[in-house]
Amino acid sequence: MRIIFLGSPGAGKGVQAQRLAKKYHLAQVSTGDILRKATRQKTKLGLQTQSYMEKGELVPDEIIIPLIAERLKEKDCAHGFILDGFPRNVTQAEMLTEMLKKMNLSLDTVLNLKVSTEKVIKRLSARIVCQSCEAVYNTEGHLPQVKGICDYCSGPLYRREDDKEETIENRLKVYEKEMIPLVEYYKRKEILVEIKGEGIVEKVFQNICAVVEKGWLKKKQ
Ligand code: AP5
Repeated sequence: MRIIFLGSPGAGKGVQAQRLAKKYHLAQVSTGDILRKATRQKTKLGLQTQSYMEKGELVPDEIIIPLIAERLKEKDCAHGFILDGFPRNVTQAEMLTEMLKKMNLSLDTVLNLKVSTEKVIKRLSARIVCQSCEAVYNTEGHLPQVKGICDYCSGPLYRREDDKEETIENRLKVYEKEMIPLVEYYKRKEILVEIKGEGIVEKVFQNICAVVEKGWLKKKQ
């Protein structure tokens, strides 16, 4: 299975992609997680991209596209993958189509998680994340069992640099600008499905699984 998650910052892409990856034994490829890890480890990639992320701007395509091309060749992607945070614009989407074509692969479904701007601002302002395994929590509804400590790996929890009010605003602006042509691109390919991303996490997940399985069965017939 090869799936893309689209949706605004805070739509729940990470939360849902993590669940879906676990259920179907797929690789979760999150460009945001890869870049944050690189920033923490102060690698060349981290130093190149940190300032874009802190401002809520997209990292240049010349950096992101080769990064994804290499990641998709890794062994864990052979069984299938979920892209969370990539593509972010039509150039990236076109490059992905080319990459997959060369690998003799195609996408199964593109899920577009829809959540109101008011709700995503609230979610992002309350998000806390594990520094080690990137598990996502929320001070408004999903707290860890021990304050400041991740339930899964005991790593420290922190607030993302780009979850500051002014950066959230810019991320949403960037998203609005790129989203319409990107959604149109996948609509034309007839693999885009819109999913209501509001409501409890479990319910959203059930809807996603139903759509994903339907697409998968259709493709296998
Ligand atoms: P990235 O990490 O991809 O950030 P994003 O797209 O802004 O998305 P988020 O991670 O903020 O939101 P999400 O949808 O994953 O929500 P989550 O599940 O965490 O990218 C960060 C930066 O990296 C970019 O700004 C850019 O600089 C760079 N970058 C990354 N990819 C790039 C690319 N391809 N090209 C160029 N640059 C790139 O959930 C959010 C909160 O809501 C959590 O607290 C969660 O607990 C809560 N929540 C989730 N679901 C629900 C629900 N159903 N009900 C209530 N609360 C919920």
